[in-house]
Amino acid sequence: MEQAEIIDRIKELKEKRNAVILAHYYSRPEVQDVADFVGDSLGLSQEAVKQDADVIVFCGVHFMGESAAVLCPDKTVLMPEIDASCPMADMADEKALREEKKKHPNAAVVCYVNSSAAVKAESDICCTSANAVEVVNSLEADEILFVPDKNLAAYVAAHTDKKVIPWEGHCPCHHQIMKADVLNMKKKHPEAKFIAHPECRPEVLELADNVASTRGMIVYAKESDSQEFIVGTECGLLHGLSKASPDKKFYCVSGYACCPSMKMVDLENLLASLEKMQTIITVSEAVRAGAKQALDRMLEVKLNK
Ligand code: 13P
Ligand code: SF4
Repeated sequence: MEQAEIIDRIKELKEKRNAVILAHYYSRPEVQDVADFVGDSLGLSQEAVKQDADVIVFCGVHFMGESAAVLCPDKTVLMPEIDASCPMADMADEKALREEKKKHPNAAVVCYVNSSAAVKAESDICCTSANAVEVVNSLEADEILFVPDKNLAAYVAAHTDKKVIPWEGHCPCHHQIMKADVLNMKKKHPEAKFIAHPECRPEVLELADNVASTRGMIVYAKESDSQEFIVGTECGLLHGLSKASPDKKFYCVSGYACCPSMKMVDLENLLASLEKMQTIITVSEAVRAGAKQALDRMLEVKLNK
């Protein structure tokens, strides 16, 4: 089938099933272009809750589909590619977290949404890269056990008076962005601003003009007077950046900054997902209640921006 034909068929089936397509900014450009809403992790959770569709097709990684299933139990949540899991989310499991909690009985557990529903259920509250500092500062506890990203934990620690205890996890895509990559690109593009995601290493973030979530970077680049940007995140964001600011130039900081899991959804498996109504994401009721509480608490926290 030609691409245009696949797109028409996706649109037809979307109507027929009363479905909505949500896609993360790291998805393939053609998938972003066919989606009803493209967003960062926070925006996608908020959008999932707002939808009155019967079906949500999630183009992203497993924890995102799971969060939608937790937040919207009355809807059918489909993921076109069930193998698209986030390696960082897989670095924490609920059993290990229960053990760690015993070592820090006074700590509140803040869990980055890049985690399984079972880990969320063991946590007091979730956060995303867009609200991590606000979430931590909203808590009464002075000690925070932060799961699973050590880089986001370090970023939060630099913006709070609380003691932040990091989990030993990281995003392979962001963690391989090195200080030398940034310095090389700055030499090549001396006029460019460097924008970076807080999943990057602390020494990389030190060089950034702006640290923000994926959506935060799009907003910053659009509002900035600068015309050129070195982008310190997954390469898929270049599509959203260029769409929002078509006259500006964006350079990926590292040729290695690609998340294979985020590229597993394409137009073919998106169409197949709507045709066959698969794969349906389910979460056991026992886990769902705890995970929902942690996500709901996060959605209630007011942002400073
Ligand atoms: P945000 O969209 O929240 O910035 O998260 C980035 C990410 O790694 C999602 O997997
Ligand atoms: Fe996970 Fe990193 Fe890929 Fe996001 S970019 S899904 S954090 S591996």
